[in-house]
Amino acid sequence: MYKIAVIPGDGTGPEVVQEGLKVLGRVSDRFKTQFELTEFDYGGEHYLKTGEVLPSDAVEKLKTFDAIYLGAIGHPDVKPGILETGILLNLRFSLDQYINLRPVKLYPNVETPLANKGPEDIDFVVVRENTEGLYAGIGGFLKKGTADEVAIQEMINTRKGVERCIRYAFEYTRKRNKAKKLTLCAKTNVLTYAHDLWMRVFTEVSKEYPDIRTDYAHVDATTMWMVKNPEWFDVIVTTNMFGDIITDLGAMVQGGMGVAAGANINPEGVSMFEPIGGSAPKYTGKGIINPVAAILAVHMMLQVLEEEEAADAVESSVIKVISKMKSMSAGQTGFSTSEIGDMVAEGLG
Ligand code: IPM
Ligand code: MN
Repeated sequence: MYKIAVIPGDGTGPEVVQEGLKVLGRVSDRFKTQFELTEFDYGGEHYLKTGEVLPSDAVEKLKTFDAIYLGAIGHPDVKPGILETGILLNLRFSLDQYINLRPVKLYPNVETPLANKGPEDIDFVVVRENTEGLYAGIGGFLKKGTADEVAIQEMINTRKGVERCIRYAFEYTRKRNKAKKLTLCAKTNVLTYAHDLWMRVFTEVSKEYPDIRTDYAHVDATTMWMVKNPEWFDVIVTTNMFGDIITDLGAMVQGGMGVAAGANINPEGVSMFEPIGGSAPKYTGKGIINPVAAILAVHMMLQVLEEEEAADAVESSVIKVISKMKSMSAGQTGFSTSEIGDMVAEGLG
């Protein structure tokens, strides 16, 4: 029996989470696994009503769960940055979810903007460091609002933070057991201190993994290869900010936000699973948003909970349903949000 915290969040978050939970319900019948769900109303509405982003006991409460399933955070009436840092980043940091795992996988029948590339070419995973780098929130202003203003935002790279991320990436590449190739994506030619650390740790740890081929690409070149030769990648390990940027490109390459899911992982603690597309306010309440990404977040949750058989079944069912869909874009799938959830659930047998 697993205790799952559910944070439907804002915008289309609740709609897609409902479909993910529909699929999880079917998993529980089919695979005799129990999920006890507890819902939390954190998000933009809660903030506008109460003035608090996260209640002070939220983190302690969430720590008692086996996993967190998150819809989306982001509200058109809240100034950018408040909910992102106060909820999403706060949870990633407080729960020490130091890995952000983002598969870039093109499923059959999904359209990619890359000419002459198919599912056999686009199948890699980005391991994004998730607690440090430019996201650490360290910095400040001097003489703010004047012509002499100075704004500083520091990039934090700790030996511990870098090493645990790189070790996770090597282990993951081995377990994935595909091309067994791990590419470090950084910017060693410019960030000669911070990314020197990354390179040294990468080289050092690689000695413990003689079965894994290693490669290096600067971040700018990485974006180029992701478009030109995505088949070169198996697993990419990278920093928080670079990972953020290249995984939006990855999401487009794999067919759009309608299919892109991610996992914020603390291998020793509580992990959080989310579709990475955001709250999409303009589609809210219309029943036309594509829930596939949210369902694939459930697939990732089952993988991390080591319910491999159930995880594989969800992915297979998603692949079958995708083959019937016209497009991955909201409003153009050929089905309503709940019809897609029904079909994936039914596909589990
Ligand atoms: C993501 C998002 C977040 C990030 C934002 C909303 C803070 O873009 O999950 O990729 O930058 O990590
Ligand atoms: Mn992002």
